[in-house]
Amino acid sequence: MRTQVGIVGAGPAGLLLSHLLALRGIESVVVELRSRAYCEARQRAGVIEDGSVRLLRAAGLAERLDRQGLEHGGIYLQFAGERHHIDFRELTGGRTVTVYAQTEVVKDLIAHRIAAGGALHFDVTDTEVDLLESDQPVLRFTDADGVRQELRCDAIAGCDGFHGICRPAIPPGLTTVRERDYPYSWLGILADVPPSTDELIYAHHRDGFALHSLRSPTVSRLYLQVDPDESIENWPDDRIWAALQRRFELPGSGWELKQGPVLDKGITPMRSFVSAPMRYGRLFLAGDAAHIVPATGAKGLNLAIADVTVLAPALDALLHGDDGPAAAYSAICLSRVWRSTHFSWWMTTMLHRTPGADEMEAQLQLSQLRYLVSSRAAATCLAENYTGYPPGSATRPS
Ligand code: FAD
Ligand code: DHB
Repeated sequence: MRTQVGIVGAGPAGLLLSHLLALRGIESVVVELRSRAYCEARQRAGVIEDGSVRLLRAAGLAERLDRQGLEHGGIYLQFAGERHHIDFRELTGGRTVTVYAQTEVVKDLIAHRIAAGGALHFDVTDTEVDLLESDQPVLRFTDADGVRQELRCDAIAGCDGFHGICRPAIPPGLTTVRERDYPYSWLGILADVPPSTDELIYAHHRDGFALHSLRSPTVSRLYLQVDPDESIENWPDDRIWAALQRRFELPGSGWELKQGPVLDKGITPMRSFVSAPMRYGRLFLAGDAAHIVPATGAKGLNLAIADVTVLAPALDALLHGDDGPAAAYSAICLSRVWRSTHFSWWMTTMLHRTPGADEMEAQLQLSQLRYLVSSRAAATCLAENYTGYPPGSATRPS
């Protein structure tokens, strides 16, 4: 078998790349370890930057997002028993974010690829990439019927997430890895209850961080800082709700956190990770395969979208004999990746309680939070980073 671009992974990066290539008349094949149902149900991100929304719209992918996405013009920061609003619209000249679940982005992308006759193989096993330094790299996999397949490609995109096989296929010594594990994880729940807030609440609390997000007018998404080695079995629903109630409470305000049935729950580690460069020969890494940010800044999905927005035209040029944009791919993406890595680290360390930390750390965090809600310059810094930078613009806002 032959295709122009072999794509490993049907997450947001791989699916969107396949769509953007198709818009340019470039054929691709996507191979995915998991089933379609699993990919469409995996609970993850929810916040989409302004620029990512515009990109999805320009690519003809925003029909449902425009109907069902919830536009948000700010967030609340809660600390020391007070809740403060950060108004993105006012601070950034009108920029917003949209709450639309990653599950829905993935469903939309899969539906578009299938309707366009795109080649998508779910439930594959034993994926391998080979001959990456040649101009005909090879992608091998065993398909859902147990048949071993070999695809000759002009280029391969490693969109297979943090635990994929593409990044490890680059010979040792040719990449530089920068990483940090944080001493906490997030326990996330999806709850069948209307959100108790009009904007997301990021809460600093002596027990640990908590985040109130949402998925729709009737479904809430909530997160709780827990120990890194915590097991979900230790967290029955009652314990989760009691911890959330404590961390969000605002005595005397009349505000209440509404509770409802828990539809899904899971624990996610918090990690920063950047592997550079994002290219080896004719293998190009995109999204979580190359970099991970802790979830506090809501940047991972947006970085995946930004990477493939740069990669699609670069592959188009490469396939037409021009290596220039492909040679620039890694540096262009890494500029944005490092901005988001810094922002995510900053939000994370400002809002979480480090186990064993002394009162010095708590006071430094509180001082930074007070500065954010009292200085327009500081609030603008948060608003500009949170709403993000348009894809393809490196780190400069439009
Ligand atoms: P993935 O979504 O991980 O997709 C990779 C795909 O490759 C997977 O489907 C996997 O099954 C497949 N794969 C792996 N190995 C192989 C193989 N050998 N062969 C074939 N296929 C393979 N980001 C935001 O922007 N905003 C948020 O609000 C946000 N919140 C988050 C909350 C949580 C709880 C979590 C966990 C993440 C959050 N993120 C957020 C991050 C975001 O979900 C990820 O950055 C995003 O999924 C990255 O997309 P991707 O396509 O690069 O990788
Ligand atoms: C969500 C996730 C995040 O990491 C974040 O910072 C905000 C919202 C969410 O899943 O809704």
